[in-house]
Amino acid sequence: MGISIRWKLATAYFLLIIFILGLTGLFILHTLEREYLRVREAAYLAHANIIATAGRDALLYPNRNTYYLIRDFGSRVGARVLVLDRQGKVIIDSLGEGWLEGLVLGHEEVLAALAGSGKTGAHVLGSGERVLYAAVPVLQDKVIVGAVMLVAELDDIYAALGAIRRQMFFVSLVSGFLAALLSLWLAGLLTRPIKGLTGAAQQMAQGRLEQRVPVRGKDELGQLAGAFNDMSSKLAEVDRTRRRFLADASHELKSPLSSIKALAQALLDTDEQNPTVYREFLVDIDTEADRLTRIVENMLQLTRLEEELPVTLEIQDIGRLVDNVVTMIQPRAENGGVTLRVDLTPGLWWPVNRDLFTRILINLLDNALRHTPAGGKITLEGSAGKEEMILRVTDTGEGIPPRYLPRIFDRFYRVDQARARSTGGTGLGLSIVRQAVNRHGGRITAASSLGKGTSFEITFPRTVPCRRTSGDDSAHVPSGVNNL
Ligand SMILES: Nc1ncnc2c1ncn2[C@@H]1O[C@H](COP(=O)(O)OP(=O)(O)O)[C@@H](O)[C@H]1O
Ligand SMILES: [Mg+2]
Repeated sequence: MGISIRWKLATAYFLLIIFILGLTGLFILHTLEREYLRVREAAYLAHANIIATAGRDALLYPNRNTYYLIRDFGSRVGARVLVLDRQGKVIIDSLGEGWLEGLVLGHEEVLAALAGSGKTGAHVLGSGERVLYAAVPVLQDKVIVGAVMLVAELDDIYAALGAIRRQMFFVSLVSGFLAALLSLWLAGLLTRPIKGLTGAAQQMAQGRLEQRVPVRGKDELGQLAGAFNDMSSKLAEVDRTRRRFLADASHELKSPLSSIKALAQALLDTDEQNPTVYREFLVDIDTEADRLTRIVENMLQLTRLEEELPVTLEIQDIGRLVDNVVTMIQPRAENGGVTLRVDLTPGLWWPVNRDLFTRILINLLDNALRHTPAGGKITLEGSAGKEEMILRVTDTGEGIPPRYLPRIFDRFYRVDQARARSTGGTGLGLSIVRQAVNRHGGRITAASSLGKGTSFEITFPRTVPCRRTSGDDSAHVPSGVNNL
């Protein structure tokens, strides 16, 4: 596993905080420095202007008193005062350091003052000391006779700025660590459900499909957990259905196979010479083989119907499709002494898939015939409104016990297993019908009254979804419906 999200987030937050606070700190320090200097410069410029008056006297009438005055000024404003003549030569140094007197200064502040305007500037000396120069002209009757320059230390300002910088650095560091801790904790909250999901997904990959993760809250992670649980139970259900289908299918295929095996074995073992006996056995074997074929064909049909391939729907003449099927079934009805009545709205056209629609009709009518004794009646009704077409197959047959009604659409389900098997039913007919109806986006319901008859009703919608609507809810069987 790579670096966990927790540590990535924590590091990111830490760096982000340090970066932002550092940037803010730099900005504040810079502003503070500028402001401090501006105030200091203004103050010293003002001081220099005041001293310039005394400087004028010192320049015009040099004596010891003026020197003392200058020195006094200097110590009061906390600066070294230099009085320069109009060539820039130092006449008086308030610190009284003889080596400076007589030197000609060429600093830009001095030059500006001698040119008539006051000027200040901060400088770093060779010793690393920071100083402020403030120079103003000395005027006598509006004539420049020299300049006064103040040299003041700035170390106090830089000491203060340094202290602020250290504090800011400390605060940034502490905030960065706090943010990192907080994000570690938050990311922990975030990653715990993800870890749970990962674990559950790994379990599923190992084949343990039924997994549940706790759903905490309604945020994205909560929704993901919910979706995961849904997916897991759907997969588990699909898996169960598949296993059951396989088991049921094998079971169904087994009985005709064992019959064929037994019949063939009996023929092989017998000393019988009479061909009529052989023929009887072969007829039985043939019947069983037919049954096998029917089961396999139905299974193939069902599997194909369950594939997500889109079905093509075309507007069809429903009357004609019904006629085709009825013509095919009619002889069987007459043989069984059952009346078959068709009651369709004339001129009924509807978007259906011709193959599937025919298959639905055949299966429903076949069931009705199979379960309706002689003298009974089967009715096929069809009508359409604006939004849906309703097709109903009603018989006056034996009916289905209410408790079995919800199960008749299940695969291989037959109310009377033994008898239905002997009559050739596979138990897949209604599953196929239901899938075919689903592919039309429709619904099928069954109602039955024991001993009185059964009715299947299908609703075909006009607007049809391209994909199959999900699963079983469209084959909804109302429980306890006995409306016959
Ligand atoms: N019209 C009906 N009247 C009575 N029972 C019916 C009718 N249609 C279906 N059934 C019951 O539902 C079961 C399932 O039907 P189906 O899936 O078509 O299987 P099969 O017809 O192969 O037995 C039937 O075995 C039968 O018990
Ligand atoms: Mg059937």
